[in-house]
Amino acid sequence: MKPHITVLIDEAVEALAIKSSGVIIDATLGSSGHARNIVSKLEKDGLFIGIDADQQAILEGQKTFSEALCHVELRVGNFRDINSILEQLHIEKADAILADLGWRMEQFSGNGRGFSFQVDEPLIMTFGDPSTYAFVAKDILNEWKETDIKNVLKGYGEEQFSGRIARHIVERREKTPFETTFDLVSVIEEAVPSFYKRGKINASTKTFQALRIAVNDEFDALENFLIKSIAHLKAGGRLAVITFHSTEDRIVKHLFRNYSHDHIGTVVNKKPIIASREEVARNPRARSAKLRVFEKI
Ligand SMILES: C[S@@+](CC[C@H](N)C(=O)[O-])C[C@H]1O[C@@H](n2cnc3c(N)ncnc32)[C@H](O)[C@@H]1O
Repeated sequence: MKPHITVLIDEAVEALAIKSSGVIIDATLGSSGHARNIVSKLEKDGLFIGIDADQQAILEGQKTFSEALCHVELRVGNFRDINSILEQLHIEKADAILADLGWRMEQFSGNGRGFSFQVDEPLIMTFGDPSTYAFVAKDILNEWKETDIKNVLKGYGEEQFSGRIARHIVERREKTPFETTFDLVSVIEEAVPSFYKRGKINASTKTFQALRIAVNDEFDALENFLIKSIAHLKAGGRLAVITFHSTEDRIVKHLFRNYSHDHIGTVVNKKPIIASREEVARNPRARSAKLRVFEKI
């Protein structure tokens, strides 16, 4: 599998307007691509805080930053819990906060939780410990009402065949409950028209994305994170967020706009910053990336 390629690295780090003695938080440490760049700008009295829901990212980060010049604190956790993470570190305010949303390619296959439609695994899709979640992916498929399933697929996946897929899901579970990813893939293939199966993206992509967002409550986590992060910024501090999904971008755009109307801060760029043609040629994932930046007054 190809390693994760960091998107908008120069643009995002520049947007943070880093001072060498600042407190900088990367709420989605991942492969430390942005973080390495940030840490290189911090001196001995600077503090870098890295957060990730994925323990593996934190373990890798500990190796990466073992000899950093500045102070480095890395924590496993959901960014929606940024308040308690900062409280534990006795930090009240930060100079800059970055979030690069989504997940790394490494997380999608072979971890046994059914994120990929290409590997037959149990339909779980939780990023944290499944026992701490209200429901996992197969619970949605086996227990939720047809209209609720349709709404998840349409609202979170923008799946144009949400109605047909939801109907086929309900018909199938009456015979046999869903257990693995391939159970779902075969139902999607039955439900959608053949032109869709020959399309640019796999017919299962949007359904899998929608279930993952629902299980991990990703939109609510994002909104929570944005509100709490802005509260933790110093005057003149910056929050930079990279999204890959139109609904996520809308959440960021509206919240930044509302906060600027309320004179809490200003939107730094009226239009989102997007990747250059060269970057997209190098890394097709960068195509849908949008960077928005907010500065607190
Ligand atoms: C796109 S990657 C970040 C890549 C990183 N910026 C880099 O350059 O290597 C997104 C990371 O955010 C983490 N993540 C996603 N949602 C999260 C959440 N709600 N709380 C904490 N971490 C989250 C994922 O585990 C993943 O490692």
